[in-house]
Amino acid sequence: MDGQSNPYRHIRVRPVSQALGAEILDVDLSQDIPDAVFAEIHRAHLEFSVIVFRDQQLSPLRQKIFSARFGTLMSHAIERFRHPEHPEVMVMTNLKDAANRNIGASRAGFEWHSDQSYKPAPALGSMLYGIECPPVGANTEFANMYAAYEALPAERKAQIESLYGIHDYAWSWATFLKDRAPLTEEEKAKVPPVLHPLVRVHPETGRKALYLSEGATRSIEGMSEAEGRALVQELSDFATQPRFVYSHQWRAGDLVFWDNRCLLHRATPSDPQYRRVMQRTMVQDDSLVRRLAAQSA
Ligand code: OGA
Ligand code: MN
Repeated sequence: MDGQSNPYRHIRVRPVSQALGAEILDVDLSQDIPDAVFAEIHRAHLEFSVIVFRDQQLSPLRQKIFSARFGTLMSHAIERFRHPEHPEVMVMTNLKDAANRNIGASRAGFEWHSDQSYKPAPALGSMLYGIECPPVGANTEFANMYAAYEALPAERKAQIESLYGIHDYAWSWATFLKDRAPLTEEEKAKVPPVLHPLVRVHPETGRKALYLSEGATRSIEGMSEAEGRALVQELSDFATQPRFVYSHQWRAGDLVFWDNRCLLHRATPSDPQYRRVMQRTMVQDDSLVRRLAAQSA
């Protein structure tokens, strides 16, 4: 906090790192959240970019209800990942069935990325709830793209200001998910490449943030594939230096909600001897959906 009066009256907010992130205390997400409390949670999300609630009990339905306070729920573009009874919920786990097949999405997101950046309107935020978490490893790491942008040399900022990244899920899958069954033509047709500015203005805070990812930004418009990809990797490496990063070590009962508009994140390896079961929802960026609709009208 800024030394001014504490803007939080209904919740306690405790920063978890220098880079970003705060723990929110005094909230039980299995109950309906009064508007005045929600307004402070929303404020903390914008201020810290990652908010962490500990010791929660969250059914898929309850997680949907809380997620929907922030905007319209978003289902994963690829249907095979959806929860059978709750299409907006995705179960991520390293568990396998009797035939040794993964029962949920596994080994995903090991490259720095921002969720659904390969869609015209990416996810505003993503909510991950730890049901079973390894005692060590399998952290989720977050990098602050406001701070990374601000730290760029002035000439780099000027150079990238008007560039667009090419976000391409089919490329990402073919490059990073070789152990999975390939996308079908039908699945690929749902995720054609899209362009997003390398520097985006956050619609709620008005701050500029870098927007690109080593996991999904194939290249940069107007550059050769190799040149564009090299610039993406250089910017991604710069932006994910330890000084910009918070690494979340999971405990069962943690609910973490992050802001995809100003962060990159990635999964880290988990030891297969430990079970990891996570329940995940995503919130659509409704302001961007409205803007896109107005442009195409
Ligand atoms: C995600 C994601 C990382 C993790 O859910 O979008 O990238 O650690 N998860 O599971
Ligand atoms: Mn992700």
